[in-house]
Amino acid sequence: MMKRRDFLFGSAALATGAVLAGKVPLVGMARAAAPDLDGRARLQMPPLLDATQSGEFTLNLQEGTQRFVMNNPSPTFGINQGYLGPTVRMAPGSSRADVKNTLDEGVAMHWHGLLVPGEQDGGPHQPIAAGGRWNTDLDINQLPATAWYHAHTHGRTAQQVYNGLAGFIQIDDGRDHDRGLPSNYGVDDLFLVIQDKRFDENGLLVFDSSMMTAMHGFFGNTIVVNGQVGAVCTPPKGLTRLRLLNGSNARSYGLFFDDLREMHLIATDSGYLQKPTALTQLRLAPGERVEVLVDFSKGGPARLLSWGDMNQSLKGYQGPIPTNIQEWSALGAYSILPFQPDERLKSGVDRLPDELDGEPAEMAQKPVRTREFTLDMGMGMMMARAMGGSMMGINGKGFDMERIDVEAKVGTVERWIISAHMQVHPFHIHGVKFLVENQVGQPPRPEERGWKDTVIVEEESQVLVRFDHAAPKERPYMYHCHILEHEDAGMMGQMSVT
Ligand code: C2O
Ligand code: CU
Ligand code: CU
Repeated sequence: MMKRRDFLFGSAALATGAVLAGKVPLVGMARAAAPDLDGRARLQMPPLLDATQSGEFTLNLQEGTQRFVMNNPSPTFGINQGYLGPTVRMAPGSSRADVKNTLDEGVAMHWHGLLVPGEQDGGPHQPIAAGGRWNTDLDINQLPATAWYHAHTHGRTAQQVYNGLAGFIQIDDGRDHDRGLPSNYGVDDLFLVIQDKRFDENGLLVFDSSMMTAMHGFFGNTIVVNGQVGAVCTPPKGLTRLRLLNGSNARSYGLFFDDLREMHLIATDSGYLQKPTALTQLRLAPGERVEVLVDFSKGGPARLLSWGDMNQSLKGYQGPIPTNIQEWSALGAYSILPFQPDERLKSGVDRLPDELDGEPAEMAQKPVRTREFTLDMGMGMMMARAMGGSMMGINGKGFDMERIDVEAKVGTVERWIISAHMQVHPFHIHGVKFLVENQVGQPPRPEERGWKDTVIVEEESQVLVRFDHAAPKERPYMYHCHILEHEDAGMMGQMSVT
């Protein structure tokens, strides 16, 4: 496992300003000074691909390069660009996706967080061959949310996502302004995908798919946000919306600001809460999203940090607030992203909304049944043989494309009890949203009290799942560990909903 001191604290040496700096829309107060970024690059947003009017969009899966460190172009995969993809903004209703695979390998492209029927879900049964193309409708009948798309190819998900096959989805009903929420893309509404990577001595991406990596998951030693290393986020000097996606293969984060300023949680995976919840720390596992409002109106720098070892357990911090990164580092924290408010930018919102119009976090129906899932780590050959040759499994069985593990009924609710030992696993279910009832008998953490599609399993998590959408046996939904190495190694099952 990585050592904390391997982490790069956003150092100037690694920033490649000239290459990475781009344009940021400027509004108002033209005479205010640009923030002093100390030679570091400004953090860029993914390009916005707005499909709310046209109802259609094209994704080109392609080879590319990205200059992460040392200004050396590293070979990557990207979507409509060299690394990662655009933010696809869709309105509720029907959209049409045209996914073209120009890569030399097959790719299945999944819409994580879209509650669409099994035929549209883009799981491992729907690979797009090298040079091929997938046209699908996306029937979106859900409230606004931050979702994402990423590769979901049988046995190849970890490598392909690591290489860059992922991007944000924004479901937008155009009413955020009425809700009193920042909604100016890339200005006061910021999309941040957090990943961890490793690089070789030439600055090229390194991925390792050894047995040990499969067991623990892949951990990098360098934090990359929106494909940049060492860049500075420049929010307006005011209330700013941060949409945080953990797009890492395996690493969980325990996020907080260096001055422990409040993060006002407004949305979890599947959409808005009913009112903002103030948090000073929150945990974010691979696949999870949160939206928070953070106040930068005092100006001055701030830094988003994470606790180390979040894949083991979450600790909180009560002591005095350190004043610099070295002191935080001594406490076991590392830097995710520095912020330097830009006085020339304005937030569209100057106060927190009292209320939001999220769906109440209550399950109206009673569960029709309870199912139990144990996430198994195969220790050696015996276990692997028992799990049908897989290193990992669920309830003693490795993933099998030919086997339907769960048959659920549309319109029903079920209680799922998921347990895991030795390690923390994020558990994701396609095509549904759920509520966390309890975790090892305790009420869920505050950041897990809204509607979700991914939940951290630390020993045991109990959730109530509502099946609103159908998936036939030939196009089943997946449920799996979102440590992508575990998923690829067999910690995944299939579910039909009829
Ligand atoms: Cu985010 Cu089945 O995946
Ligand atoms: Cu999914
Ligand atoms: Cu796992």
